[in-house]
Amino acid sequence: MSSGAPVITIPLSSPFQDQKPGTSGLRKSSRRFAEPHYLESFIEAVLRTLPGVAGGTLVVGGDGRYGNQRAIEVIARMGAAHGLARMVTTTGGILSTPAASHLIRQRQAIGGIILSASHNPGGPEGDFGVKVNGSNGGPAPESLTSAIHACTLTLDGYRILEAGAGAAGVSLAAPGMQTMAGLTVEVIDGVSDYLALMEKLFDLDRIAELLRSDFPVVFDALHAVTGPYATQLLEQRLGAPAGTVHNGIPLEDFGGGHPDPNLTYAHELAALLLDGDRYAFGAACDGDGDRNMILGRGCFVNPSDSLAVLTANASVAPAYAGGLAGVARSMPTSAAVDVVAKELGLTCFETPTGWKFFGNLLDAGRITLCGEESFGTGSDHVREKDGLWAVLFWLQILAERRCSVGEVMAGHWARFGRHYYSRHDYEAIPSEAAHGLYDRMQGMLATLSGEAFAGRRIATADDFRYADPVDGSVSEHQGLRLLLDDGSRVVLRLSGTGTQGATLRVYLERYEPASGQLGLDPQAALGDLIAAINALAEIPARTGMDRPTVIT
Ligand code: G1P
Ligand code: ZN
Repeated sequence: MSSGAPVITIPLSSPFQDQKPGTSGLRKSSRRFAEPHYLESFIEAVLRTLPGVAGGTLVVGGDGRYGNQRAIEVIARMGAAHGLARMVTTTGGILSTPAASHLIRQRQAIGGIILSASHNPGGPEGDFGVKVNGSNGGPAPESLTSAIHACTLTLDGYRILEAGAGAAGVSLAAPGMQTMAGLTVEVIDGVSDYLALMEKLFDLDRIAELLRSDFPVVFDALHAVTGPYATQLLEQRLGAPAGTVHNGIPLEDFGGGHPDPNLTYAHELAALLLDGDRYAFGAACDGDGDRNMILGRGCFVNPSDSLAVLTANASVAPAYAGGLAGVARSMPTSAAVDVVAKELGLTCFETPTGWKFFGNLLDAGRITLCGEESFGTGSDHVREKDGLWAVLFWLQILAERRCSVGEVMAGHWARFGRHYYSRHDYEAIPSEAAHGLYDRMQGMLATLSGEAFAGRRIATADDFRYADPVDGSVSEHQGLRLLLDDGSRVVLRLSGTGTQGATLRVYLERYEPASGQLGLDPQAALGDLIAAINALAEIPARTGMDRPTVIT
C-alpha cells in the first residue's frame, strides 16, 4: 500500500437534498447510493461533523450486503484525506451491529460507521445504508444526526485520496495492517472479540451441556451477517452439530431474501418449529445481527414477552446474577415487562421507538436490560440491540430450567398474566394516504377521551411525548396512543425506516390476568380491538388494503 497518493477535492455542483438520516441512519436504494458522489458526500458530512476525526480511530464494517466493500474503500480514502489516524475494519468487511458497538467501546474509538440497511433486502435492486455510531458505541444522538444533515445541505465538495496511481486500495482478504497516506488500516477478524464478550456474560459450558442432552436447536442466519458468528458460537464453541446454522454464508443479496426475523420473512424456520417437531429451539437474526426471533417446538415467543422473560430470569446469566439496575421498553412494546419489573421492585422506563433512546439510560447506569417489540433486545454490554446475545440468554434460561420454551411461556403467564399483543404493518402505502390517515387521527385525539371503543372506554388519547430522565431533552410526536379503561391499548405510528412510500404500524395489546384465559390465539383475543381501530382510523378505505402486509 502506497502512502504517496495525493488528496484531491472533488467539487459538487449541487448538494444532495435527501440525505437526512432516519431512525437508523441514511437508508436508501442501492441505486441511489450508486449515483456519482452520493455516498461520498454523505461520508464527507460525517467526517466533518463527528468529533475527533483528525488523529482518531474509527470502526468501519457492515452486514456484507452489496456495496459494503466499496463503501469501506471510500471511507478509508476519505478518512485518510481528513487526517484519521486509524480505521479498524474486518475481513470481508463483515461486522455485525452489536459487534461494531463492542469494538467501538473496546478500542475507545471516536465512533463507527456501520454499512447496513438492517433487515431490508440487499443487492443492486435492494437497499443500502450508512449508520453513524458515537463513541459510546450507540447510534448517533439526534443532535449529531441533525448536524450531519445540516452539513450535507451546504456541501460544495469532498476530500478524498486519489484512487489508482498511489493508493492500491484496501485489502479485506485477511487480518493485517495496511497504511494509506497517514491512515493505518487495521483489518481484524470481526468475530473473535464479540465471542470473547459473550464468554464473559454467559456460562457457555452449561449451554453446551444442554445442547448435548437431546435438545436439538436450529439457527437461521438468512444469508446475512450472523452466519459466521453463529457458526463459531453454536457449532464450534457450544458443540451443536454441523448444519445447525442454516443459510450461514453471508451473500450480497441475502440470497434474494428479506433478512427480517419474523414469521413472514423467516418462514422456513417458522415452519420447522411450528409445523414440525424435529427441533426444541429455533432462532434467527436480521441482516446486521441486532434483531432476534425466538421459537420453541410449536411456540412463537412474542418479542415483548421475550423481554419480560429475560427480566424475570436474569439471575441465571452470570452477567446479571448480581441484579438489574432497571429495565426499559419502547412505548409500543407491550407492558409485559412492566408487570415483572413491578414485582421485582425495578424501575421500568418507557421510551420512544428507536434504540438511541436507551443509550442515555444505559450510559447513566439506570437500566441493565431493554427491548423493543420489533424483535430487539439488549443490555448494557453494548449500546445496540443484540440478536445472538438474546439467543444465548434464552439458551441459558433453558439450560437452567430444563424445560421447553412453551413451558417457560406458560409458567410466565401463570405467574404474571398474559399481554396479548400484535403488530399490524401496512407497507408501501402512498405517502399522501398514510399521512392523511395519520393526521386525521392526530387531529381527532382531543375528542376521543371518554368515547366508547371495542366495548370499553378510551381513558386517554394522546401523542406520546418523552422527557429523557437523564438529560431532560424532550421528544414530541412519538406515536398516537389510545389507552382504554381496562388497560388495553392501541397505538399508531408511521415507520421511520421504510424506503418505499410510507408504512403504518398498528400496535394492539390486551392484558389477561393470571386467573384468566391464557391460551387464546392473539389475533382472536385482539379481534375486537382490531375491528374497532380499522373502523375508527378508516384503515382499509384509506390504505386500499383489506389486510396488513405483515402481522406479528
Ligand atoms: C423499526 C422498529 C423500531 C426499530 C427500528 C430499527 O423502526 O419499529 O423498533 O428501532 O426499526 O431497527 P420504524 O420503521 O418503526 O421506525
Ligand atoms: Zn437490524
